[in-house]
Amino acid sequence: MEELKRAVAKEALKFIEDDMIVGLGTGSTTAYFIEYLGKLIMEEELEDVYGVPTSYQSRMLAIENGVPVLGLDEVDAIDIAVDGADEVDPQLNLIKGRGAALTMEKIIEYRAGTFLVLVDESKLVESLGQKMPVPIEVIPAAWRAIAEEIEVFNATAELRMASKKDGPVVTDNGNFILDARFHRIEDPLDLEIELNNIPGVVENGIFADIADIVLVGTKEGVKRLE
Ligand code: 5RP
Repeated sequence: MEELKRAVAKEALKFIEDDMIVGLGTGSTTAYFIEYLGKLIMEEELEDVYGVPTSYQSRMLAIENGVPVLGLDEVDAIDIAVDGADEVDPQLNLIKGRGAALTMEKIIEYRAGTFLVLVDESKLVESLGQKMPVPIEVIPAAWRAIAEEIEVFNATAELRMASKKDGPVVTDNGNFILDARFHRIEDPLDLEIELNNIPGVVENGIFADIADIVLVGTKEGVKRLE
């Protein structure tokens, strides 16, 4: 699996040119991309490539690997954003957020000229929600109320815990994450909008109709979906 992640991360470098502002996703696949991007910048002496990180984790990785970083409020535009995903359906709708960075990821990826997704073949599903719950970032005080509201959608939601001892996972924005299991997600775009209408929901991990290109690592090589 790590081999496949490395292969897609390497392939993603073909999309990078000098003078680009690159959105840096979060997670283990993107971590390889950030590492390779740092090497590319050094070897090709690219002077004007900057990363816009989607989390503290990717910001630190970028700095460690020699990728200069800028905040979203310091750039006019994002040329390309590169990120992993937890599920990809045949229409390239995604579930993201295992790394709890979904809000900043969606803001940056929505703004990018091209959103490039990197996955291994285990992430491809016939319909979203088949394997993974939908992560929902919520205002902490509202977590229980929102978990109850979500039952209206024929779903069950659990508060994501770091551990019993450490308590709930807290996002970079100081919020909690609910993981919601849906019986069936028939219309991802509709559900994405509906969930964000619940007061106290900051953002949810359905990324409908936003991915431009998906690179899939398979045993036969990297495949491109668009
Ligand atoms: C983080 C994410 C990740 O991109 C997603 O969880 C995939 O991660 P990995 O590449 O480690 O499988 O959405 O919030």
